[in-house]
Amino acid sequence: MGWKAEWERAKADPEGFWMEKAEAIDWHRAPSVALKDRGGPVPEWFSDGMVNTCHNAADRHVAAGHGDRVALIHDSPVTDSVTRITYGELQDLTARLAGALAARGVTKGDRVVIYMPMVPEAVVAMLACTRIGAIHSVVFGGFAANELAVRIDDAQPKAVIAGSCGIEPGRVVAYKPLLDAALEKASHKPEFAIIFQRAQARAEMGPRDVDWAEALAGAAPAECVPVAGDHPAYILYTSGTTGAPKGVVRPTGGHLVALDWTMENIYDTKPGEVFWAASDVGWVVGHSYIAYAPLIHGCTSVVFEGKPVGTPDASTFWRVMADHKVANFFTAPTAFRAVKRDDPEGKLMAGHDLSGLRNIFLAGERADPDTIEWIKARTGKSVIDHWWQTETGWAIAANPVGLERLPVKIGSPSVPMPGWDVRVLDDAGHEVAPDTLGAIAVKLPLPPGTLPTLWHAEARFRKSYLETFPGFYETGDAGMIDADGYLWIMARTDDVINVAGHRLSTGAMEEVLAGHPDVAECAVIGVADPLKGQLPLGFVCLTKGVDRPHDEIARECVGLVREKIGPVAAFKLAVVVDRLPKTRSGKILRATMAKIADGETVKTPATIDDPAILGEIADALRPMGYAGGS
Ligand code: COA
Ligand code: AMP
Repeated sequence: MGWKAEWERAKADPEGFWMEKAEAIDWHRAPSVALKDRGGPVPEWFSDGMVNTCHNAADRHVAAGHGDRVALIHDSPVTDSVTRITYGELQDLTARLAGALAARGVTKGDRVVIYMPMVPEAVVAMLACTRIGAIHSVVFGGFAANELAVRIDDAQPKAVIAGSCGIEPGRVVAYKPLLDAALEKASHKPEFAIIFQRAQARAEMGPRDVDWAEALAGAAPAECVPVAGDHPAYILYTSGTTGAPKGVVRPTGGHLVALDWTMENIYDTKPGEVFWAASDVGWVVGHSYIAYAPLIHGCTSVVFEGKPVGTPDASTFWRVMADHKVANFFTAPTAFRAVKRDDPEGKLMAGHDLSGLRNIFLAGERADPDTIEWIKARTGKSVIDHWWQTETGWAIAANPVGLERLPVKIGSPSVPMPGWDVRVLDDAGHEVAPDTLGAIAVKLPLPPGTLPTLWHAEARFRKSYLETFPGFYETGDAGMIDADGYLWIMARTDDVINVAGHRLSTGAMEEVLAGHPDVAECAVIGVADPLKGQLPLGFVCLTKGVDRPHDEIARECVGLVREKIGPVAAFKLAVVVDRLPKTRSGKILRATMAKIADGETVKTPATIDDPAILGEIADALRPMGYAGGS
């Protein structure tokens, strides 16, 4: 069956469609119904089924005789090592870590925060939590202690699992001092922390710390605990408009069913084949396509600890694909922009046999046509852009090459996937004509695997996603649908920016800048960047009477964002200005400032209070190389 028929079947008969897809999962008790309204903000999928994620990602493959199949390949150019873990070993490791957690009182529904670099133990930790029904929340290693503390306070974990360090090119990032600082700051105190020691920086252990190796050595293996289909598998925090991150909840049953379906239909990958998502387990791409989907589907997943360039050079992607016979590859466009910048002619591909590679998938940010063309020209492979979000957990729109290879339109992530009824709406919530720009929304209900709520924040969930367009999920992206039904994603409608494929909140950065003692007012915008897509740029207005060198204050602002949010914010541009452009009602005109910075033609907004300020903003930006400056 082709894409259109599948999409229409999922729309006409969601119950039949998803119950059929659910048969690919091993249920302890099969669900009697797919979608059920249980009084929450949206109906839940498979809520009366009983199931276990770890069983589906490890044990069932061992039981089917695939215990010797490689589940995880850790390829780590930063430590110059390659390690393989079979499904049999994965089952054993998850059972023992789960046993160690259970022996210390972690039980179904308890939260566990995971703060680990790109080591296979991070995947083991995630699966071990799901094995006993504990709800994990992975925090990306590039966040500072403060962000970790915010997530600990929100998730209220019983335990933390952390690595002793991560390795960035040229520096070892000791995680344990960051964890200790976070635990110091947080009001919630987890009962214990399991620390995975790495040779590059061994952690000093404190009274609440347990050594990973000792914990596993002494643990009785834990069995998989069946949980209800709507039990949260994990919470993943993502950036919203304010500084407080949103805790996206992922329901167990729908997650298993949807991800399993995507492996063959979207990613064209069969059990036993090697899938590589070059992302990080701290992001949704890492959750879905490093940890979960490949393992649920019985594939081999590559856990890559390195960068597209600099570890040691731009040949690394090609080497890893060839060495491990990767069948399908997934990364963010920014990663290829980095490769292209260092090796524009693709000379470093020489000697790497990519004959086994079928498709290259891109997501996480807009895939610019230049980058797509470059990848196609160098590799000769099909390049598939697809669009999704932390909230959805899997692609809203894609070219489902496993199901049917649709014509590619460069610049478009193609068409909605089965279960997704995507509409473009105007401000009043009316559907617009094809090729007309508007807010992208999805008619409810959303398909399985998507967020049913935000962790302990149902009102925020309703306000952020359901209230603007009643009956629809508001994606936060603007764009259009063309006459062929292809989607075009143009921009965010909120204060979220996308830096090197990482989703960041300008609001969160503004909160940090406002905390500087000399700053009276500030605004952070995203400016276009040829490598990272966007970069944050901060404008600060000083408190009356402050008479210190402006570049010194700007430097302190940069340092403050790095200290409070972390290096991942990539906040390196700050400038002092006298005033910010505002509407007469006092709203800062961030979008206009961003256009000025990018050198676009700006129409002076009718509501602006004082148009002269726009000229002042451009004058401040030119010396930094923006607004047409060099
Ligand atoms: N732990 C600690 N620090 C981290 C980190 C981690 N896990 N990940 C990134 N950082 C640091 C980087 O070292 C860098 O620090 P610096 O300011 O001291 O140089 C900073 O955070 C910014 O990182 P990043 O924006 O990633 O820039 P980069 O210059 O290190 O690398 C790319 C640029 C394009 C190569 C890189 O962003 C990349 O590979 N992106 C792939 C995209 C991706 O994985 N997206 C996820 C969704 S698919
Ligand atoms: P995240 O939740 O971190 O995955 O970020 C999701 C956001 O990234 C989306 O809402 C989009 O703004 C952007 N995004 C992801 N994939 C694409 C894509 N293929 N094209 C354009 N934007 C994308």
